[in-house]
Amino acid sequence: MAKDVIIALDFSSKEQVFAFLDNFKDRKPFVKIGMELFYAEGPEIVKEIKRRGHKIFLDLKLHDIPNTVMKAMKVLSSLDVDMTNLHASGTISMMEGAIKGLTREDGSRPILIAVTQLTSTDQTAMENDLLIKEPIDKVVMHYARNAKIAGLDGVVCSPLEAGKVHETCGQDFITVTPGVRFADGEKGDQKRVMTPSEARKIGSDYIVVGRPITASEDPVKAYNRCIEEFLG
Ligand code: C5P
Repeated sequence: MAKDVIIALDFSSKEQVFAFLDNFKDRKPFVKIGMELFYAEGPEIVKEIKRRGHKIFLDLKLHDIPNTVMKAMKVLSSLDVDMTNLHASGTISMMEGAIKGLTREDGSRPILIAVTQLTSTDQTAMENDLLIKEPIDKVVMHYARNAKIAGLDGVVCSPLEAGKVHETCGQDFITVTPGVRFADGEKGDQKRVMTPSEARKIGSDYIVVGRPITASEDPVKAYNRCIEEFLG
């Protein structure tokens, strides 16, 4: 299965993004575009980054009624992104609608992964705000299983959960894991982190890395270090 390092382009304008991407002359990294950049710059930023030869994970975390998600996914699919996502809490029928919308006439479609419980949601918030009383690990695995039943390709999860997700949903069910830091790097606001080589050992398929690369004095060197440590 394809494994790769995805750089989180957490910038707020296209000028910053292009100045950053201009550093990469040889290998064109797989990149993640999130809500901030997409809402600021619109679909044109996706098309332009694609034209520059990058693979794109469009991280918009859709959650709505199945018909609306189906139609929105159809639009995202036409942008030729390589990976996108939604909230598994939108139910199995919403996820099935998403697959339907993403699938192009020739049968191809971007990789679709689910967010289970956001890492910002803890047991207390889940119980008090969402009235979900089960242990959070069980909820995460239940949502991952639902994503698999709906035909999705994998989930976004902590590298610490990747092994369990593979045990529950199979080795070919993709795990995309943020929260990656170099052994000698700053953790920033991430609490539970792993190095790229630990993430590889635990079976992550894609690691999402932001600041260790984007805030580095030499982003290309930091990216190459990630690739070496993660891909071996
Ligand atoms: O800069 P850093 O490496 O922490 O960036 C990680 C990226 O992954 C950010 O875009 C962040 O929003 C995203 N992410 C995360 N934790 C999650 C889900 C997504 O850090 N649980």
